[in-house]
Amino acid sequence: MLIVTGATGRLGQLIVNRLLERVPAERIGVSVRDVRKAAGLAARGVRVRSGDFTEPGTLEHAFEGAERVLVVSAAIRGDGASTANSAAIDAAREAGARHILYTSHQAASPLSLFPPQRVHAATEEHLKRQGVPYTALRNGFYASALGPYIGAALRTGTLAVPQDGPVSWTAHEDLAEAAALALAGDGVLEGITPPLTAPQTLDFADVAGVLSRITGRAVTRVVMDDDEWIAAAVAGGMPRQAAEFSLTMFAASRNGEFDVTDPTLGAVIGRPAKTVQEELETVIRSR
Ligand SMILES: NC(=O)c1ccc[n+]([C@@H]2O[C@H](COP(=O)([O-])OP(=O)(O)OC[C@H]3O[C@@H](n4cnc5c(N)ncnc54)[C@H](OP(=O)(O)O)[C@@H]3O)[C@@H](O)[C@H]2O)c1
Repeated sequence: MLIVTGATGRLGQLIVNRLLERVPAERIGVSVRDVRKAAGLAARGVRVRSGDFTEPGTLEHAFEGAERVLVVSAAIRGDGASTANSAAIDAAREAGARHILYTSHQAASPLSLFPPQRVHAATEEHLKRQGVPYTALRNGFYASALGPYIGAALRTGTLAVPQDGPVSWTAHEDLAEAAALALAGDGVLEGITPPLTAPQTLDFADVAGVLSRITGRAVTRVVMDDDEWIAAAVAGGMPRQAAEFSLTMFAASRNGEFDVTDPTLGAVIGRPAKTVQEELETVIRSR
């Protein structure tokens, strides 16, 4: 059985949908925190079981009969994140999985200025030590992360954020397709993958230019001082911790951490990976 965790999250749902196009539903199992949210998958014949990485005892049942397990990194911030992801990897090994896959990040590094990259690096190290064939999918930075910044830019005509750097903003759909192919097929992606990215990098000045072209209205990029941006974000209702977390993304990007593209994603999915322009058009059309 092929097990996918996080199947009620955005990436996990897309992965299971792609998997269902290739593999009979009875070969697919999902591990989710709230089985009610996966009723649609159960109706399609997918085995739905409850599993929470922070309660590893739940994973034995969720992963029962696993041939291969795709651990979608849990949306947990802080020190508990790598412990939780590692617990899922342990559970996959204990369930007898012959291959364990994990959704890592293009910039996974213990030295990253962006804390999630340090979590992914620690989890990759754990994965390597299991003695089981593995794949760490080094997913590109989600283009959807631009959403909150775009909303404000379209309202105000100003994209006012701290100094950033180029990022290979990548579509969820493409990453989900690559993950489904890697889970379903031996040898599609093995070990630590190259960065799975869109074909170009854009910084926020480029994004402002794209927004101007798509909407026909000028969007001006303004570079804000870090502290002023935090103060403005907090004044606008963002919790201070969240603002400080977001700032680390800008710090990492201006440090060049996400300034990489690689052809592997397009090669695996058999078509060009989506550009951020295509993604932005989708985001704007859906508003
Ligand atoms: N590549 C990138 O740029 C990037 C950016 C942001 C995040 N990520 C990582 O990619 C993952 C998937 O992205 P996404 O877009 O699908 O995010 P999402 O829609 O927020 O989904 C997050 C998933 O994490 C699951 N989760 C949270 N706590 C958990 C726990 N204790 N045990 C097991 N699962 C838990 C959630 O389960 P429920 O459905 O039960 O809530 C959900 O399925 C994220 O969780 C994050 O680790 C990557």
